[in-house]
Amino acid sequence: MKTQKTTVGSINSDVLSFTAGRDVELDKSLITADCLGTAAHVTMLSKMKPAVLSETARKKVIRELKAIIKQAEEGKFKIRLSDQDVHLAVERTLTEKLGDLGKKIHTGRSRNDQVAVDMRLYGREEILGTLDEAVALISALLAFAKRNEKVPMVGRTHMQPGMPSSVGLWAAAHAESLLDDCVLLVNAYELNDQCPLGSAASYGVPLPIDRELVSDLLGFRCPVHTVLYAGNSRGKVESIVLCAMSQVMLSLSRFAQDLMLFTMPEFGYFTLPDELCTGSSIMPQKKNPDVIELVRARASRVKACELAVYDLIKGSPGGYNRDLQDAKEPFMEGVAMTRDCLRVLAPFVQAIQVDKKALKAGFTPDVFATDRALELVGQGMPFRDAYRHVKENLGELEKMNPAKAIAQKTHLGAPLGIDWNLLKERGRAVTGIVRDERRALNRAVERLLKV
Ligand code: ARG
Repeated sequence: MKTQKTTVGSINSDVLSFTAGRDVELDKSLITADCLGTAAHVTMLSKMKPAVLSETARKKVIRELKAIIKQAEEGKFKIRLSDQDVHLAVERTLTEKLGDLGKKIHTGRSRNDQVAVDMRLYGREEILGTLDEAVALISALLAFAKRNEKVPMVGRTHMQPGMPSSVGLWAAAHAESLLDDCVLLVNAYELNDQCPLGSAASYGVPLPIDRELVSDLLGFRCPVHTVLYAGNSRGKVESIVLCAMSQVMLSLSRFAQDLMLFTMPEFGYFTLPDELCTGSSIMPQKKNPDVIELVRARASRVKACELAVYDLIKGSPGGYNRDLQDAKEPFMEGVAMTRDCLRVLAPFVQAIQVDKKALKAGFTPDVFATDRALELVGQGMPFRDAYRHVKENLGELEKMNPAKAIAQKTHLGAPLGIDWNLLKERGRAVTGIVRDERRALNRAVERLLKV
């Protein structure tokens, strides 16, 4: 049996690679987060009474951590299989550089709270990035909607022609759906914004550590209160974030589906520029909307990531279980996939070409049936009588002017009653939250790493 020396003892080689799993690779995304967590932890250790580390020692550690962060940014920091994960890779490096001082940094913490804080620091950045990208897409949708505010489009129910509507309403509705998703993302951000560090292996430590200080140093809103929930919330927080992501994907998927339908030659309402479509290897004429098909597919995959994390933890007992390690991959994958979709769609929306003629051609006389009935109501006829009258005389319906028809829909939220400022303001508010958060986080990190 082959055994291998690791940073913390020897184990069977197969067990080592099996248990490390994909951590050696995935943890590359956590190097900076891990260094920040360690910087906050050692700073707190240096402020304890009696101090575990001196101020000089703290500075030495922080300098090395900054060097690791720089190496990570250049793609040069290596996590070895014998390290198992980023946490022990950082500890090994600090010990190589600083000797006994490196061996002190793990005082009063466990890899369990270390990885929990890393995931939250990682999640924090990812959610802010997602919000930025969501707002960019929302802005593109709203600009497209405003440009086409007065362009008539048949409104459908059951996919069948229903009533006069507009391209502006269609696009603004998709934007509003994403604005709601931003609220979920911000809520997920707030729940994520609590610091689990100092919970150690979920049961605290017999040392007077200052968890509030650590939380402040890392720019978190507050510590997770009970040390056990700090541990148990790993996986749960990821599933909350993925739940918000999967709502974003739900919005994107429905938008993609609409777009697929309305770019079909049989509709031809919209066309996509050639460079955003793909061709076929056999059919020379093909111009396929693969991008939006893949967005639809990714919605399923992000949901699968959410369910993967949920399922991992739903029956797991409290306290740390190694199962939690396997939440990392679906979490990172689900978040990255959502962000990719948001990014690919923003330029897509800007490039959608609107065929006003095709849109107008969709207005068969029956689309005006309800408008006609309501016209009769205006002349004093009870609605049900007007409804019956129109229904019995459908053949007599005349094609009205679609532009005129939508010009009459001016009440709140109707095709010509869209409050563009309200929608834009909601987007701006999200941007404001992201900007304020980033500013506060950057300030915290700068302060933390200053020596
Ligand atoms: N890589 C591990 C994870 O992601 C780190 C924590 C290991 N803790 C332990 N008790 N084995 O969960």
